[in-house]
Amino acid sequence: MYETIKYEVSGNIGYLTINRPKAMNALNGEVLDEIYAACTEIANDENVKAVILTGEGKAFVAGADIAQMNQLDAIEGRALIAKGHKVMNYIESIEKPFIAAVNGFALGGGCELAMACDIRIASEKAKFGQPEVNLGIIPGFGGTQRLPRLVGKGMAKYLIMTAEMIGAEEAHRIGLVEKVVAPEELIPACEKLAQTIMSKAPIAIGVAKTTINNGYDLDIRAASALEIEAFASTFASQDKTAGMTAFLEKKEAEFKNK
Ligand code: HXC
Repeated sequence: MYETIKYEVSGNIGYLTINRPKAMNALNGEVLDEIYAACTEIANDENVKAVILTGEGKAFVAGADIAQMNQLDAIEGRALIAKGHKVMNYIESIEKPFIAAVNGFALGGGCELAMACDIRIASEKAKFGQPEVNLGIIPGFGGTQRLPRLVGKGMAKYLIMTAEMIGAEEAHRIGLVEKVVAPEELIPACEKLAQTIMSKAPIAIGVAKTTINNGYDLDIRAASALEIEAFASTFASQDKTAGMTAFLEKKEAEFKNK
């Protein structure tokens, strides 16, 4: 059904794989459209409780498609950027955890795609960078905004202004990824993480995600007000009763996503 991605569901996990290995999984308009379409499936499928996003072959995603961008005028370029932002913002808005399994090059738009996910696990072979200034452009799928929020303003400027490519350990040291594992451990580690998250109350996981994302850029008073309402919504769930009752009865909670 999809041409440039693979999407399948197994054991409540949605596996979304960018699948243009000959072009290092570069993001063109079609790939972005297909990621968006798969995200719509993910959002609407109650069976899917977590997502693992990765790349086929030796790249995670080596950025936006330079061959395509080279053909675009300013108006068309703006439309591509808007499409990229639509995809990244959609991933952030879906109330399910997205885990980026960064298997190789995560450059430019690839690093930006990983940053739109909730948690990043990197293979020891992964490489990160925002090399746009080599091409006469700047990061355009959220990199100037999400990178400083993850690693701080100074480090973000360093990476964007130098276009330096960094390895997985350095990415971990600066807070760009949460964990580094051996290449063969990448998907199992992401699956283990997904299982851990999926064993918790799904509504609480979704509300935690959107409360963090929506509150991050607010001042502390507005963000606190947001948390009060978000917290109240979890109190209205049946899973809140299930979780607390199970604790008091010294049992394992059975959550129903209600
Ligand atoms: C289009 C790409 C590509 C890209 C690689 N390829 N990256 N095509 N867009 N971003 C293609 C190459 O042209 C080549 O095609 C094939 O993939 C294999 O790549 P090689 O360069 O031969 O492989 P290797 O020597 O292993 O180097 C891998 C690499 C390098 C380090 C990832 O390809 C590279 O630097 N890629 C560009 C990275 C980049 O600048 N990304 C940022 C893009 S701007 P052929 O046909 O020759 O086999 C961006 C902005 C986002 O992302 C927001 C604005 C829209």
